[in-house]
Amino acid sequence: MSAPPSRVVAVVSNKGGVGKTTVATNLAIYLRALREDLPVLLVGLDDQSVVDRMFALEPIRPDEPNLKHAWAERTLERAIRVGQYGVHFVPSPPETEALKTRGEDSGTLSRILARTAWDGVIVLDTKGDLEALTRNALVAADRVILPVSDRGSLNEAGKALALLAAERRADRAKVLFTLVDARTRVEVGGSELLAVLEREVAERRWPRFRTHLSRSPRAEALISAGGVPLSVLHHARGTALHRQMRELTEEVLCDLGVDARGPETAHRAPRRVGEPRGRAVGDWKMALLRGLRGR
Ligand SMILES: Nc1ncnc2c1ncn2[C@@H]1O[C@H](COP(=O)(O)OP(=O)(O)O)[C@@H](O)[C@H]1O
Ligand SMILES: [Mg+2]
Repeated sequence: MSAPPSRVVAVVSNKGGVGKTTVATNLAIYLRALREDLPVLLVGLDDQSVVDRMFALEPIRPDEPNLKHAWAERTLERAIRVGQYGVHFVPSPPETEALKTRGEDSGTLSRILARTAWDGVIVLDTKGDLEALTRNALVAADRVILPVSDRGSLNEAGKALALLAAERRADRAKVLFTLVDARTRVEVGGSELLAVLEREVAERRWPRFRTHLSRSPRAEALISAGGVPLSVLHHARGTALHRQMRELTEEVLCDLGVDARGPETAHRAPRRVGEPRGRAVGDWKMALLRGLRGR
């Protein structure tokens, strides 16, 4: 069977703290779990090392290829490495200024991805801006997730949509409500914030994901307790956020034209390497090998 071409999903918001990195990293893991035959590559267009900390199997040495080298080489191939949960990733660049300068042409990343043989999904996490690298992500993406957690980020989503519309790509993007807390009310009228934001998005006729992501103290502890950020799939099962992440991933797969049920197993979580539970390694390792062979 010939491998499918790579499909690119970018998570974009001009605002920090709306859950971009949480969505991008966990989406990569859920994609891997739902479709274990599908290789997943996560690329952080950011100098924050969350992706590295979450996925690196061993510390990344400064002399190892990262996104900066990949950008110069015009292909990610030498910088791709296998990480936790069977997710591949490209180590973050030490800083993004040089990349931004080199990325002034917003089609650069698109060309880099086209030259990178990756027969699976590529997830792009972006920085909280709409500068050169994020614009590259918008141009490269087949699907764009626009996280919205409040009115400020809703307005920022409008700016990203305007950029996409200028490239005739607005139909690729959908708003995702994040950090939803049913207790949050708007000052005037006292309605639930989510309902107010949903109404505004409907009025603006912006497409949105069916599911939203709830604010979860459990998830917050997993991500921000220091050390290695942990996955929702492996460490917050039984929470609403787990169910929502799964629904989101199924919708993303559907939008990408991939059957979420997969060829065989749609329920197994790839084991986190080094996790002390003695769970069988066979399934996800086999999948990984299949993925690597498919490259
Ligand atoms: N569903 C959630 N529930 C609770 N806290 C969350 C959730 N998603 C993200 N956070 C927290 O919100 C903060 C910002 O998330 P992050 O994904 O880093 O956002 P961004 O990448 O947009 O800056 C982090 O401290 C993270 O732990
Ligand atoms: Mg981030």
